[in-house]
Amino acid sequence: MKRVSPSIKPAAPWYGAKALAQKVALREEKKKQNLKKIYQEKEGGVNVMLISHIVAMASNRVIGDKGEIPWKIPGEQKMFKEITMGHTMIMGRKTYEAIGRALPGRTNIVITRQTDYAAPDCIVVHDLKSALQSCPSDESEAFIIGGGQIYQATISSADRVYLTVLPMEVPGDTYFPEFSESDFEVIRSDFIDAIVPYHFYIYERINGNGWVESSPMLQP
Ligand SMILES: NC(=O)c1ccc[n+]([C@@H]2O[C@H](COP(=O)([O-])OP(=O)(O)OC[C@H]3O[C@@H](n4cnc5c(N)ncnc54)[C@H](OP(=O)(O)O)[C@@H]3O)[C@@H](O)[C@H]2O)c1
Repeated sequence: MKRVSPSIKPAAPWYGAKALAQKVALREEKKKQNLKKIYQEKEGGVNVMLISHIVAMASNRVIGDKGEIPWKIPGEQKMFKEITMGHTMIMGRKTYEAIGRALPGRTNIVITRQTDYAAPDCIVVHDLKSALQSCPSDESEAFIIGGGQIYQATISSADRVYLTVLPMEVPGDTYFPEFSESDFEVIRSDFIDAIVPYHFYIYERINGNGWVESSPMLQP
C-alpha cells in the first residue's frame, strides 16, 4: 500500500468549492471596482450604460428559421424575462414581428428603415445610434435581443453576452455572429439539465467600458 507522509494533508473535500467561491467573490469585487472607475472617469452627469446581447443559439450558431426561433426550451423564457425585466430591449423589426407585441415591464425599442412603421407601445427608431439614444437616461444595461442583423451590427460594441447554447445542431437561416472569445471573460457557466438540456454562459468584455452619448461607436 502506498504510504502518505503525515505532513501532507489531503485536500479537504470542500476545498474546491471554497476556493471557487473565493475566486468568484474576488472577481465580483474587481468588476465592481472597474465599473466604479468607469463611472468616475466618464461621469460628468453622463450615464454609462452597458450594452448586452441576450441570445439562444444551437451549436451550429443557428438562432432562427423562417422568422421564428426553431425550438422551445422550457424555463429559458423565464430566465430571459428575469434578466431583461425593468431594462431596455433593442430589437430588429423582424424580431419584433416574431414576438408580435411589446413585452411588458421593459422599454421596447424597434429598429426599422421604414419611416412610417408603427409598433404599439414601442419606440420606433431608424438607426442603431438612435436606438441607444432612445434608452431612458438612467438605464444601466440595454439588451440587444436580436435578431441576426442587429446582433451582427452590434457585437463589436457588446459589453456582455448572455448566451444560451443548445448542445445540438439545428437547421435554420439566421445565425449568431462569431465573436472573439478572447476579448471576453466567462463570468458564469452553467449546465441546465432540463427536459431540453442547455448551457448558459455570461461573457463579459475584458476592459469593456459601456456606452455614453459621446461614444464614437455605432455611428449611423
Ligand atoms: N434565438 C434567439 O435568441 C433569437 C433572438 C431574436 C431573434 N431570433 C430570430 O432571428 C430571426 C430574425 O433575425 P433577422 O436577422 O432576420 O432580423 P432582425 O435583425 O430581427 O431585423 C432585421 C430588420 O431590422 C431593421 N434593421 C436592421 N439593421 C438596421 C439598421 N442599421 N438601421 C435601420 N434598420 C435596421 C430592418 O427592418 P426593415 O426591413 O423594416 O427596414 C431589417 O429588415 C427570426 O427568425 C427570429 O425568430 C432569434
